Amino acid sequence: MHAMTEALAFDMYGTLVDPIGITTALQEVLPEDADRLAVLWRSTQLEYTFRLTAMGVYEDFERVTRKALDHALAVVGRDLGQAAKDMLMGRYNDLERFIDVAPGLDRLQQAGHPMVVFSNGSPRMLEPLMAATGLDRWFDGYLSVDPVQAFKPSPRTYRYVAEQLNRPIGHIRLISSNPFDISGARTAGMSAAWVNRSGGPFDTLGDPPEVIVRSLTELADALAHPA
Ligand code: 2OP
Repeated sequence: MHAMTEALAFDMYGTLVDPIGITTALQEVLPEDADRLAVLWRSTQLEYTFRLTAMGVYEDFERVTRKALDHALAVVGRDLGQAAKDMLMGRYNDLERFIDVAPGLDRLQQAGHPMVVFSNGSPRMLEPLMAATGLDRWFDGYLSVDPVQAFKPSPRTYRYVAEQLNRPIGHIRLISSNPFDISGARTAGMSAAWVNRSGGPFDTLGDPPEVIVRSLTELADALAHPA
């Protein structure tokens, strides 16, 4: 059963934990700008990963996340001391699990899927986050893009997952709420399931995957009864 059930590689930020949840920590230091900062911080963080990878250079996700925070603060015309920024970075390693994660992972684990976390996050971020969220319970560890020195959606990152899992890339399914990640995985030959947490449209750069769900419990249903 184990060998036959496909391996699942789960994106972290946006899929298992909510990076916009950092708004609560931002409200403690800049209440009037918290919502705007959280969105700017996340979009800048991802833009920086895309630009670094397109340029063929690499800085780890912790450095990129710090630089993205500095940019978001500059855009809203605010500044924070180092202690406040360190507090925010600490809270990035303690984000909340989405409510469907525990029940969904329980069912997927019972179905016998080998499961791993696969994220842009650096090991220094993922290690504490896996522990703080209790995700260690369900996963055979995590894979960071860091050893590849490139970010998603570089095909090299998905191929790295296949090497580490010692499985053909087509026998692994990427689980992500991020359309760029879904398109990246599929371009590299991995199958995929989009967890549409926003309720919005996919995007027009790539075709939506054959599995589209709103939660990990719905994912468990979809994988138990393939169409
Ligand atoms: C992750 O790799 C895409 O940031 C997201 O976890």
